[in-house]
Amino acid sequence: MSRLVINGTKRLKGSARVQGSKNSALPILAAAILCRGESVIHNCPELSDVRGTINILRYLGCDVGFSGGTLVCDSSGLTKNYIPNSLMREMRSSIIFLGALLARTGSASMCFPGGCEIGPRPIDLHLKALEALGAEICDDCGVFRCTAPEGLHGAKIALSFPSVGATENVMICASLAEGTTIITNAAREPEICDLADFLNGCGADISGAGDSTIVIEGKSSLRGCCHTVIPDRIAAATLLSCCAATGGRVTLTSAIPSHLGAVLSILEECGCDVDIMGGCVTLDAPNRLCAPKVVRTMPYPGFPTDAQAPVMAMAAKSRGTTLFIENIFENRYLHVSGLLRMGANIKVEGRVAVLQGARCLHGADVAAMDLRGAAALITAALGAQGRTTLEGLRYLDRGYECLEATLSELGADVKRI
Ligand code: EPZ
Repeated sequence: MSRLVINGTKRLKGSARVQGSKNSALPILAAAILCRGESVIHNCPELSDVRGTINILRYLGCDVGFSGGTLVCDSSGLTKNYIPNSLMREMRSSIIFLGALLARTGSASMCFPGGCEIGPRPIDLHLKALEALGAEICDDCGVFRCTAPEGLHGAKIALSFPSVGATENVMICASLAEGTTIITNAAREPEICDLADFLNGCGADISGAGDSTIVIEGKSSLRGCCHTVIPDRIAAATLLSCCAATGGRVTLTSAIPSHLGAVLSILEECGCDVDIMGGCVTLDAPNRLCAPKVVRTMPYPGFPTDAQAPVMAMAAKSRGTTLFIENIFENRYLHVSGLLRMGANIKVEGRVAVLQGARCLHGADVAAMDLRGAAALITAALGAQGRTTLEGLRYLDRGYECLEATLSELGADVKRI
């Protein structure tokens, strides 16, 4: 089993390109099956979650090629409308295929995706919304079968929580439903806007993406298009956290600063200088950070839950106390045990964690237990004295494209063995 070996306290310096967004690419690849013909997706990151999605597309009968960050998907050969357990287990976020398969073929079945490390991950909002569009869903011993006997029709859908996945599933399914769909309390994440841009490029008619109300005028068919995925704002936040943890100075190219607002304001509160020039963000960090007072995760444009772990790792050596409140997922402090082994001072009570900045951290043998927790342990190791080994790289590789190579180019002493 491979692991990372990191020798800390090297200051990061230089510039790095931000990878394409995992959480934008995955729903866009699912939406590609709506289209007859070929879609070309540029800036698609090389991740195990993307490979899992490609396996599903090929299983369904699509012709998929992927090289050099460009993915070509021709879904005209799609023949199946169900996803087997083996592929669902590999990628629980494949629930995003439900709306696409239903819209393309009129029926869809897959097993319940189940929970993951960070929480039970229910899908009640997805199912309720698709039923409003005319889907009939029955649970057949853990496999749910969806049909649309009367076809799919527009509807008014008020989400009780601005769920990213549920908003995406409705946008995808409603694009081929008959009539107008209005989603209120929709998720506003940049990935929602990117999906809308892709679907509109395929001939859909979606307006309001990025606001809380999205309107979709259904079409009878869509054609493939060419699209470039936005930069990954969480990968950007992770690289900035790594820089701040080492008192470094790093410029991120190809980032979209407006997607990073809540993260940049926390970094400034920590005493970092942030300079924004065009599509670049330059962070200049002090030797020792001031602890941010409160980090409260919220739906976009609030502080992103996916950045909570790397930012906590960055703050572990700061001066002062930080209150973390995790409002999105039930179990998102799995990285704390590893941070404690490295000398951090953190107390967790349910969704709240109180961090007392330590004078310094020391290297340790640690293991990741989820994707963003892996990034957090790397962030802490970069700023720790001595050697850290990190196991559980399968989590890291789900969402980060060669992170250790990028960090090495910035001067970090990190090797995958
Ligand atoms: C997406 O997950 C992202 N994943 C997550 O990123 C991200 O943390 C999350 O949005 C929030 O921004 C992808 O885009 C592939 P939600 P998603 O539906 O769609 C509850 C990462 O690290 N909920 O907005 O699953 C749910 O339990 C991953 O890259 C219901 O109760 O997030 C959670 O508490 C982790 N019922 C909250 O809403 C539902 O039907 C937010 O979930 C759906 C969700």
